[in-house]
Amino acid sequence: MKILILGASGTIGKYLVQHFSKNHEVICASRNDKENKVNIEEASSIAQLFEKVGKVDAIICAAGEAKWGYFNELSEEDFYIGIKSKLMGQVNLTRLGLNHLNEGGSITLTTGILADDPVVKTSSAAMVNGGIHSFVQALALEIPAGKRINAVSTGVVENAYQKYQSYFPGHIPIPMSKMIHGYVRSVEGKDNGQIIKIYS
Ligand SMILES: NC(=O)c1ccc[n+]([C@@H]2O[C@H](COP(=O)([O-])OP(=O)(O)OC[C@H]3O[C@@H](n4cnc5c(N)ncnc54)[C@H](OP(=O)(O)O)[C@@H]3O)[C@@H](O)[C@H]2O)c1
Repeated sequence: MKILILGASGTIGKYLVQHFSKNHEVICASRNDKENKVNIEEASSIAQLFEKVGKVDAIICAAGEAKWGYFNELSEEDFYIGIKSKLMGQVNLTRLGLNHLNEGGSITLTTGILADDPVVKTSSAAMVNGGIHSFVQALALEIPAGKRINAVSTGVVENAYQKYQSYFPGHIPIPMSKMIHGYVRSVEGKDNGQIIKIYS
């Protein structure tokens, strides 16, 4: 398969690249990628990326940000960060990506445990994750035949645990070797409209 991975240089993305490169052709993309620069906050940038890479068999997004902070300290603009990046970034990637998917192809978005099990300071991040979950389930009802969409939602992954552990007291870090199964299931399996949850 030809697999396009957005956010390929990140904690999750790097692991995805390492894993899928073993058996597939992987194309990496992110804002600072040398070959395939893309900013998912701008639909025109996503369109340019697809012009360059052409049709693919799978699109995986492991990119997207949201502002963390106590609710009473978050401004309207702060909420728009997550809406523009993780929410609409992934929606626009899906809108444009569907036209560049080969028959039988899949799109895999990334959300996270906050959608179901939020911690403090995540009213914005949890909100966008939940929005993507609903988006995936609704789109599955009308996605063109032969194409699939899923989201992978994991707990804090092991390789990011040090950075996030103070926000997630008592949460079980997810080994990278376990996290990967969610993406493999979405890309190589037949699921459609699923929120693939790996929380423990
Ligand atoms: N880490 C976890 O434990 C965890 C758990 C569950 C869910 N998630 C979610 O998984 C996603 C990836 O997390 P991560 O920990 O791997 O993040 P990360 O280490 O910060 O990596 C983010 C990746 O996305 C790229 N990126 C960021 N903004 C972008 C944009 N606007 N357009 C294109 N590329 C962009 C970054 O590269 P450039 O800077 O070059 O663009 C980088 O490759 C996030 O949405 C996060 O919320 C993470």
